Amino acid sequence: MAGSMTKEDEKVIPVRVALRCRPLVPKEINEGCQCCLTFVSGEPQVIVGNDKAFTYDYVFDPSTEQEEVFNTAVMTKEDEKVIPVRVALRCRPLVPKEINEGCQCCLTFVSGEPQVIVGNDKAFTYDYVFDPSTEQEEVFNTAVSQLLLGLFRGYNATVLAYGQTGSGKTFSMGGTYTSEQENESTVGVIPRVIRRIFQEKSKCADCEFLLSVSYLEIYNEEILDLLCTSKDKPIISIREDPKDGIKIVGLTEKEVFTAHEMVGCLELGNSARTVGSTAMNAASSRSHAIFTISLEQRRKGDKSEIMVSKLHLVDLAGSERQKKTKAEGDRLKEGISINRGLLSLGNVISALGDESKKGTFVPYRDSKLTRLLQDSLGGNSHTLMIACVSPADSNIEETINTLRYADRARKIKNKPVLNVDPRAVEMKRLKQQVQELQVMLLHARGGVAPVLTGSEPVENVSDILEQNRCLQDENGKLSRELSEAVGQTALMFERIIMMEQTNEKLQSKLEELRQHAACKVDLQKMVETLEDQELKENMEVIQNLQQLILELQMPNGN
Ligand SMILES: Nc1ncnc2c1ncn2[C@@H]1O[C@H](COP(=O)(O)OP(=O)(O)OP(=O)(O)O)[C@@H](O)[C@H]1O
Ligand SMILES: [Mg+2]
Repeated sequence: MAGSMTKEDEKVIPVRVALRCRPLVPKEINEGCQCCLTFVSGEPQVIVGNDKAFTYDYVFDPSTEQEEVFNTAVMTKEDEKVIPVRVALRCRPLVPKEINEGCQCCLTFVSGEPQVIVGNDKAFTYDYVFDPSTEQEEVFNTAVSQLLLGLFRGYNATVLAYGQTGSGKTFSMGGTYTSEQENESTVGVIPRVIRRIFQEKSKCADCEFLLSVSYLEIYNEEILDLLCTSKDKPIISIREDPKDGIKIVGLTEKEVFTAHEMVGCLELGNSARTVGSTAMNAASSRSHAIFTISLEQRRKGDKSEIMVSKLHLVDLAGSERQKKTKAEGDRLKEGISINRGLLSLGNVISALGDESKKGTFVPYRDSKLTRLLQDSLGGNSHTLMIACVSPADSNIEETINTLRYADRARKIKNKPVLNVDPRAVEMKRLKQQVQELQVMLLHARGGVAPVLTGSEPVENVSDILEQNRCLQDENGKLSRELSEAVGQTALMFERIIMMEQTNEKLQSKLEELRQHAACKVDLQKMVETLEDQELKENMEVIQNLQQLILELQMPNGN
């Protein structure tokens, strides 16, 4: 029942370690030195002597060339590449209202180039530019479908429709889709995505898939579950997990098995979404909506490699001017909240996209929208922004604003990573640990270490697991003994410190005694002058004592 969006920014990445062993140098060879390391072929593992096995991210044996070290460990890994947010500009045709008002088209499209010119001078270039004649199918095939390939390879993706109210965001995304429109060319992105996902899924016969969807709207800064039909809607909150990133607690995540079921979820959510009429758009979205498809996949029979990737399809509410929408009451309140969310989004986009603000604080927390889109902007996602504009000259100011906004978004660099399930990673780690323990165990018994290939029969694995359990018990026992020994050592240290303190005190007392006037008296002279035998003997005792004090004060007690 909970959606999650991992936050790449806060993920901890361990220091990677490459072990490199050089060949024996001539001096060592002359001295008859032998190699004391064994390198496990195909594994980043090294065994020292006969028993100690160590595993690293990379292990380079003495035959490894510099080039291999550079290519394997130094070159940026595919996973760590940054890629910019892509932007598709989409201009809708003039709508009847604009034609009636005598509006003219204020945009010129440069043929064969993804470029648009506003008025007579300002030119903007994007990744794609779709002029008013572009069909929904072309938008999908050109800009969206490639994201789905990434999704099946384990990468998160986001499609985000942005633009002024009435510019065609909901139309482009398919936010009013009902199954009656199934075969129409006006079907938007989301239903097309659903169709394609199920087509792709049926092509992978050797994979098992688990698909689920969630659909939410942010209305007046509150998250509402568009798939929850019950009257007592649970409260939805955003939680930030240091390991898993952003989690949406209480949100319905519906498992689906067919395209029909998934489209059903879209229709259900579309009908529940808050829509209102304004002077700019008869069916204006009054909320930001996020339709999320979760794709979990694994190879049949291989439980260890699970990938979970997410696709967020976002239809934002449009920026609006009260003067033009003539919004009052609830509509006005909604409009203020919509603009506030979009302003936060704009701040996040400019913090991420502006080179001069590089490294500065990104205000994701300023609104629910930016918190939820954290991954899609500057995070772990391949992101496409569809910037929607009206061609009408009456909207030129808003159009320029959108073009600028979209231009900034293009400068955002995302860092998509392959989303391998943490459970699978943990399993891999445990398997590796079993292998290491097995090597140690066999060497301890004087045997030869076999190398696990990962495809051992089940009984073998259960044997190993049993051995692992025994070793863990043994390890636990040794750890307890070790901690006892550590405790005793600490106690001894404490005693040593106390004795040192006592010693210091004694030393200073001795020093005092040595400095004492009694020590300076020439007792020998007195002994010689004394007549009384008894007094003489007593004096000799004192003289010995004086001598002792002087000796004690000498270094090392000598
Ligand atoms: N590419 C297009 N071709 C034909 N009609 C379009 C196109 N884009 C939008 N329209 C029409 O323009 C009107 C407004 O579109 P839409 O509701 O999608 O705007 P919006 O950007 O979602 O606005 P809001 O922010 O108010 O929700 C609708 O009547 C829609 O059918
Ligand atoms: Mg809309």
